[in-house]
Amino acid sequence: MIVTIDGPAAAGKGTLAAKISQKYDLAYFDTGMIYRAVGLKAILENQSPENETAALKIAQNMTFPLMMEMSKHPDFRSASGGSAASKVSAIPSVRQALLQMQRDFAKSPRFPDGRSAKGVVYDGRDAGTVICPQADFKFFITATPEVRAMRRFKEYQQKGLALSYEEVLSQTKERDARDSSRSSAPMKPAEDAVIIDTSTLSVDEVYQKVCEIIDSK
Ligand code: DC
Repeated sequence: MIVTIDGPAAAGKGTLAAKISQKYDLAYFDTGMIYRAVGLKAILENQSPENETAALKIAQNMTFPLMMEMSKHPDFRSASGGSAASKVSAIPSVRQALLQMQRDFAKSPRFPDGRSAKGVVYDGRDAGTVICPQADFKFFITATPEVRAMRRFKEYQQKGLALSYEEVLSQTKERDARDSSRSSAPMKPAEDAVIIDTSTLSVDEVYQKVCEIIDSK
């Protein structure tokens, strides 16, 4: 079984995908991680994430283990890491270089401990449209920029990061604009995706809705 969960930053995709992977015994691929790994590596090598030659070279050498290694870096989930990821992800050749790795994961899905899984839940922007158009279930999870910025702001506060709500809101809108206006695989719901606006829903309400849809088939 393949489930795709796409949508903008901080819409609740990751939390939902983790719960779905647990309930249905599916491996979980957070595809944003590969763009974060490429973007962060560019920064650490003193390259601009917008430099196509540098970003492409990093993308061509990106592997699953390297991505996992990079994810331990303190800036991997930071605002600057997110911004670098968004910039490299807007380069079509970088997306192309990372596509096969994402598709291959569904061929023999594995849990982090090496056990094989019955399927995959992908979380990203183009999982239902480009990576796995043949997925069994496609969801597009969204919420207003204000609600998403508030969720991110609270996460940053818990981590002790000094960013104001206004700064987080402006970053959220900037990333939305870049992710949805890029020429290659812009963020948009697949035609057959179920769209869920989580602005006024709790994590559990979204989870129940998604489980009902999966269980009804
Ligand atoms: O989901 P995230 O915040 O970790 O994603 C980081 C960036 O990567 C985001 O700005 C858009 C990009 N991305 C993408 O273009 N395609 C994906 N499948 C996943 C993420």
